[in-house]
Amino acid sequence: MTLWGGRFTENQNQLAAEFNNSLPFDWRLAAVDVRGSIAWALALARANVITALEAEQLVAGLNTIQDEIESGQLDFNTGEEDIHSLVERRLGELVGAVAGKLRTGRSRNDQVATDFRLWLMDTLEQVDAAAQGLQAALIKRAELDLEWSVMLPGYTHFQRAQPILLSHWWLSHFWPLQRDRQRLRQLRDRTAVSPLGAGALAGTAFPIDREALAHELGFNSATPNSLDAVSDRDFAAEFLFVAALIGVHLSKLSEALILYSTREFGFIELADAFSTGSSLMPQKKNPDPLELTRGKAGTLIGHLTGLLATLKALPSAYDKDLQEDKPVVFDAADTLRRMLPVMAGAINTLTVRGDRMAAALDAAMLATDLADYLVKRGVPFREAHGLAGQAVRKAIELGVSLDRLPFYEWKAISPLIEEDVSSVFDFAASIERRNVIGGTGRAAVKQQLEEAKNVIRSA
Ligand code: ARG
Repeated sequence: MTLWGGRFTENQNQLAAEFNNSLPFDWRLAAVDVRGSIAWALALARANVITALEAEQLVAGLNTIQDEIESGQLDFNTGEEDIHSLVERRLGELVGAVAGKLRTGRSRNDQVATDFRLWLMDTLEQVDAAAQGLQAALIKRAELDLEWSVMLPGYTHFQRAQPILLSHWWLSHFWPLQRDRQRLRQLRDRTAVSPLGAGALAGTAFPIDREALAHELGFNSATPNSLDAVSDRDFAAEFLFVAALIGVHLSKLSEALILYSTREFGFIELADAFSTGSSLMPQKKNPDPLELTRGKAGTLIGHLTGLLATLKALPSAYDKDLQEDKPVVFDAADTLRRMLPVMAGAINTLTVRGDRMAAALDAAMLATDLADYLVKRGVPFREAHGLAGQAVRKAIELGVSLDRLPFYEWKAISPLIEEDVSSVFDFAASIERRNVIGGTGRAAVKQQLEEAKNVIRSA
C-alpha cells in the first residue's frame, strides 16, 4: 500500500516500483522515523489540529512500534515503498483509522530530511567514539615507546631524513584524528536544525510551533526556509567529506605500517589476529586489514564525489534524486564503525622491533646536525650546508659511514672542525636537540603526550 494513489487508474509497473522503493535501505531510519512521528503527533495536538485523545492514541501506537523495532519484531518485508509508509501502515493496524491523521500537514519531504538528520546526529557520536578508541591506541603506543626512547628514521620523500622518536611518529597520527573529531562535532551543530514543518516545500499550513517541535526532538533550531529545508543535504555531504578524510588519514597510517611490516623494513610485526594467510604460499602473513583500510579510503572518496554529483543539478526543493543520499551515507558510517576499531586493534597488538629501527639509522641522517655544528662555530648556514654535503660525498667516495671519515678529511673540509665533531654522531643527542614545542626531543614529546591525553576526552 502506497501513501498515494487517488489520482491513478493503473497499478505501478513492478520494475518501476522496485526501482523506486527505498525500504531495502531506509529501514534503518525506522527508530528515528517513529521518534519524529511522536513529536509530530504531539505538535498537531498542541496546534489543536487533532485532539489530545487522538494524539494519545497515535503516541501509544508509535510506542508499540518502537518496542517492536527494538525487539526485532517489526516486519520489514511487507513490500512498502519506504520506511515512512511502513510505519504508517503498521500504525493503522495498531490504532485504526486515526492513524490517517498523523500525515496531516506533513510530507515525506520534510519527514525524510528530519529522520536523516536525527539518524546522523546519533551516528556522529558513534563515529566519534570509534575515532577516540583509535586515538587511545596511539596514545598507549606513544607512552610505551617513550619509556624505551625507541628511535627510528624519519622520512621525507620516503628517503631517510632525520632520526625521530617512535612516540613522536605515533602521535603524528593522533592529531589528524583529533581534527576529524572536531569536524564531526562542528557538523553536529549544522545537522541539528529541524526541517519538520517545512511540508512538501512551502511550509505546513497548520499553526505548528516549529521551534518547540525542533527542541523536543533534540534539534537546536528550525530551518529558516522551507524550500531549502527539504533539499538541503549539506550535512550528508559534509559527513561524507569527514568520512573520506578519516579514510585518507587511516590509509596513510596503513600504508606506513604495511611498509614497516615488510621483511625489508622489519620495523613492526602485526599480530596473527590482525593478519591473514595465503591460500597458495604457506609462508605468507599478509596485512589484509590494513590493505582493506587503504582500499576503503578510495570507496569513501567515491561516496563523497557521488553525492556531490547527485546534488549539483537539482532544480528545486525535493527531487527523487535525493533518495540516493542514503546508501552512500549508510555505507560510509558502517565502514567507519568497522574500520576504526580494526585499526585500533591492529595497533594495540603489533610488535615493535626497536632493534630493526635503530639499525636503519645511518650517520648521514645527521648531516643537518653537522651543518649546525659548523653554524655554532660561526659558519653561515648556507656555507655549512655545502661543507656538510662535501663530507657526505667524501664518505660515499671512500665507502665509509659519515662518522668514520678520517680526521684529516674533516680538516680538509674545514679547519674549524675539531675532534669533538664525533659528538655530532649521536642519534639520541640529535633528537634531544629538538625539544621545541612539537619537536621530537624527549621532553617535547612527553609534553605532547600529556596534551594528547588531555584533549582526547573532548574533541
Ligand atoms: N524515500 C524518499 C527519500 O528517501 C522519501 C521521500 C519521498 N518523497 C516523495 N515525495 N516521494 O528521499
